[in-house]
Amino acid sequence: MMTALTENVKWVGKVDWELKFFHGQEYSTHRGSSYNSYLIKDQKTVLIDTVWKPFAREFIENLKQEIELEQIDYIIANHAESDHSGALELLMQEIPETPIYCTKNAIQSLQGHYHKTWNFIPVKTGDTLNLGKNQLVFVEARMLHWPDSMFTYLTGENLLFSNDAFGQHYASELLYNDLVDQSELEQEAIKYYANILTPYSVLVQKKIEEIKGLNLPLDMICPSHGIIWRKKPWQIVEQYLEWAQDYQENQITLVYDSMWDGTKKMAEAIIEGIKTADDQVNVKMYNLALSDKSDIITEIFKSKAFLIGSPTINRGILYSVAGLLEMIKGLGFKNKKAAAFGCYGWSGEGTKIITEGLMQGGITILDEGLRALWHPDQETIQTCKAYGKDLVAKI
Ligand code: FEO
Repeated sequence: MMTALTENVKWVGKVDWELKFFHGQEYSTHRGSSYNSYLIKDQKTVLIDTVWKPFAREFIENLKQEIELEQIDYIIANHAESDHSGALELLMQEIPETPIYCTKNAIQSLQGHYHKTWNFIPVKTGDTLNLGKNQLVFVEARMLHWPDSMFTYLTGENLLFSNDAFGQHYASELLYNDLVDQSELEQEAIKYYANILTPYSVLVQKKIEEIKGLNLPLDMICPSHGIIWRKKPWQIVEQYLEWAQDYQENQITLVYDSMWDGTKKMAEAIIEGIKTADDQVNVKMYNLALSDKSDIITEIFKSKAFLIGSPTINRGILYSVAGLLEMIKGLGFKNKKAAAFGCYGWSGEGTKIITEGLMQGGITILDEGLRALWHPDQETIQTCKAYGKDLVAKI
């Protein structure tokens, strides 16, 4: 499928309906994804990004139906990660002299991936490339989300090729934001931000202010994953600004793992207590062992506070909880409050270990946490309810 965005610009990417995980098994993609590549035909012909390696042959065969590969004057590599550069190796076998415009950092990362000395042309913010009628303007987007990341703006057509930024792992043949299910789109966009861009929120704010300051006319934002923002393209920019400013909703999320349901019963009782103190707050609970970790990160991203529970096992905590704490530490959430809870039989250090993990992640700790000896009895259940009720005032 090749779809015309404008008279001179075509989408030439790949919609990957089968993709269930991205970044190895790290990020769940329940709705698939796409690898968006764009072909600009001006007096010069330009290819912006490619697709993931498994689709390289198909991508090149499709391109050949559109143009002679030798007609491609310039390749723009906005980012070296292999979901966008994966077809370069095969492409460069066919057109080895074609210049690749990218950041200085991208030269390093592309060489690091492919170990080839292609005809790299380094560009930096403000550099332009004349295509005849229109121009490409490059804007470095360092750490959004790699050191090599870059945006490319096409004058005349007013298109911003933003690569990963403003993307979503969302397969659709509809291509544009105004044509797809809005709740699906919102869910995939916030999940993408929460799991990929959270650590770089300060840079997101700065880059957006820089882009807004340029006062560029903008008809479409064309990311490298998911749909293109055609209707009110600034909406996703404003949404990113909101997400980047320590975003939270009126939500409290409890995540736990449990061996014999003791810690689960604690979670349920804590929720009951929270609801007696605040029946408006959106409380959600997830068993980590049964839930998708990328979805849970999204729920934590939306929360003003969260609780993490694990029974003590082997002087530690269950591995699902340990893994989540590692993710929380890496993502560097801001403006989140949290506490720990869990059952124990003898040594009982699980709650303390969770609390320490949260502190390492820069999370504000609400209290020392709540422990329950053995399986919760009615008295312990009442204690958990009282704990939940008191918690509301602390948040
Ligand atoms: Fe879509 Fe950072 O690659």
